[in-house]
Amino acid sequence: MSSKYEPLIPATPAFDARGTPMSARYGDVYHPAWGALAQARRVFLEGNGLPERWRGKDAFTVCETGFGLGHNFLALWQAWRDDPQRSRRLHVVSFEAHPFSAPDLSGLLLPRLEPPERRLAEQLIQAWPVLLPGLHRLEFEGGSLTLTLAFGTVERLARQVSARVDAFFLDGFAPRVNPQMWSRQLFGQLVRMANAHATAATWCCAGEMRRSLAAAGFLVSKTRGFGGKREMTVASLRPELGRRGCPPGEGGSATAVIVGGGLAGAGVAHALALRGIGSTVLDPVFALGAGGSHKGHLAAALTPALSRDDDPRSRIGRAGALRALARWQEFDGAARPWRCGTLEVIRDPVGARQWRRALDELRLASDWVRWLDAAQARERTGVDLGAGGLWFSAGQLVRMEPLLAAMLAPAAIALRAESVLAIGQDASGSWRAFGPEGRVLASGDHLVLAGAHGTPALLATVAGAPPLPKLRAMYRMGGQVSYLDGADAVDTRAILAGNGYCLPRIEGRGVVGGTYVPDAESPQLTVAGHEENLRKLHALLGRAQPAAQGRGAMEGWAGWRAAVADRLPVIGPVAGAEGLWLACAYGSRGLSWSALAGDLIAAWLCGEPLPLERELLQKIAPR
Ligand SMILES: Cc1cc2nc3c(=O)[nH]c(=O)nc-3n(C[C@H](O)[C@H](O)[C@H](O)COP(=O)(O)OP(=O)(O)OC[C@H]3O[C@@H](n4cnc5c(N)ncnc54)[C@H](O)[C@@H]3O)c2cc1C
Ligand SMILES: C[S@@+](CC[C@H](N)C(=O)[O-])C[C@H]1O[C@@H](n2cnc3c(N)ncnc32)[C@H](O)[C@@H]1O
Repeated sequence: MSSKYEPLIPATPAFDARGTPMSARYGDVYHPAWGALAQARRVFLEGNGLPERWRGKDAFTVCETGFGLGHNFLALWQAWRDDPQRSRRLHVVSFEAHPFSAPDLSGLLLPRLEPPERRLAEQLIQAWPVLLPGLHRLEFEGGSLTLTLAFGTVERLARQVSARVDAFFLDGFAPRVNPQMWSRQLFGQLVRMANAHATAATWCCAGEMRRSLAAAGFLVSKTRGFGGKREMTVASLRPELGRRGCPPGEGGSATAVIVGGGLAGAGVAHALALRGIGSTVLDPVFALGAGGSHKGHLAAALTPALSRDDDPRSRIGRAGALRALARWQEFDGAARPWRCGTLEVIRDPVGARQWRRALDELRLASDWVRWLDAAQARERTGVDLGAGGLWFSAGQLVRMEPLLAAMLAPAAIALRAESVLAIGQDASGSWRAFGPEGRVLASGDHLVLAGAHGTPALLATVAGAPPLPKLRAMYRMGGQVSYLDGADAVDTRAILAGNGYCLPRIEGRGVVGGTYVPDAESPQLTVAGHEENLRKLHALLGRAQPAAQGRGAMEGWAGWRAAVADRLPVIGPVAGAEGLWLACAYGSRGLSWSALAGDLIAAWLCGEPLPLERELLQKIAPR
């Protein structure tokens, strides 16, 4: 286990003698007895010049240092809703080391709130995330209001957040019991995120806190206090500090060209369309329809990755599974993934012991991952496996063609069945994709290379393109899944995974997979591949393999997986080529990276808080 790993410890409800919610851990109240919302309005909104300061802006971003019960967020949301001159979008980032569970939050908040905040609190509780460490992006008001909850200590996570902040709400427990929330180092990180003219406000007036705020780069002053307090602190960023200029996609006026219409390209096009940014997606497979890259691929599995030390792949995979849930559960019919759960079957007793110990140390929420013994596994899956394993309730069975079609359906997305031979930038900085004889196929402010294994060759056509060694080492593996019919298909209610996987029946057929064929000339179904899939299935089920019969007549789907050495995806801007982005190397986990990459690139373009920690962005950065 990495010494940096911090398990997330939820808060426990408690009250002081006056009935005000308090933390027994810190020995302090969440808000003054005379009014949480009143304090939010007077100290945090007024102290930051709100609502006036967001007026006339496309987007406004608030960062809060302690989410607690969310009163400040609810007061902010209501004030923003009430203001006809509000910014088009409002983004809120809030840190919380000890979040409440949804039922506890509900019990603490709802009985004490009146409408209209009560109605907002109900929406908040409805959207409340699983208690997992890291960043969680919640959306309200049709996506115009986002709340990025950073679950973990602010000491660690403030460094990890990418945001362009206009106003800070400094709201820890009292500095005496909670010094981490008022430190010079923390304020330094807040300044790193600040836009020019950013402000900060807090009820706290402690001298040391004020000196730290000033040392970090704020001009600090006192103003009339609230309730029992004589004074409160307001601050504005020193005029020479802070980010200037607008993000390139602000206002939804940018356009994008996307090369590749598989899971990678579709994820980006969809996320851009949700923000009003139009794109043209180019891929010859569209001749077969919007889901052409997975034509005939009956179904696939999305299982959150997990390693015993919660390594970057595990953390990025968790973020990816959460994004996929947020984006794709909105779809209708066959496009909406079926959240049937995944059992990662573990037969080896040593491995089982190690995993159980790791789960104890990781302390991840049991509604995300838990250990099932053999009897519990049988109950969940309906299959007698004679073994237990890791149960991921967020395991999803995905119908590939309908999912791709739904992602690519928005009117802001144009699909063109074209092959791109080269890309480049014109004198005005606009990106262009070229076809045969130098014909311009499409142009836009941004160009996203999402062509899997075709990406390095296209990147090489950009004049002066920076060398990207990671990408140069991209390789691809062919592979196939096999379909089982009738009594051959396994009647499992959940995805079974291990060395290979077995999906619940779709349209009466079972899907088992998959093979890995290095250096395959072209993806194709083979009898040897079917046999390998059956061997994997029987190992998964812990059964002897039946004699081979009729495998030549079996059906399935074959495709490619493009990957780089660390088996992480490559997602992000290409340094030194403004407006050029990569979304590739999805390997065997395209479903885990698709929605995450889309939201990362789209959020980057629009200047929104990014839904992934900076150290993880580094890991997947094009290099
Ligand atoms: C047998 C098998 C089973 C799998 N099962 C799963 C699973 O259960 N779960 C999971 O998450 N993942 C699974 N995968 C992996 C998953 O399919 C990939 O990770 C995913 O398809 C990658 O998406 P992509 O968009 O990057 O690449 P692709 O799907 O390969 O799409 C890239 C697209 O770019 C286009 N393109 C390339 N160059 C150009 C160009 N110059 N101009 C225009 N277009 C271009 C191509 O035509 C292609 O359509 C499986 C893969 C295989 C092979
Ligand atoms: C005063 S309460 C915040 C009240 C909240 N703003 C509201 O509107 O309900 C302080 C919050 O900071 C959190 N906190 C304390 N120390 C922290 C730390 N080191 N990192 C992140 N959050 C922390 C506490 O768990 C608590 O929820």
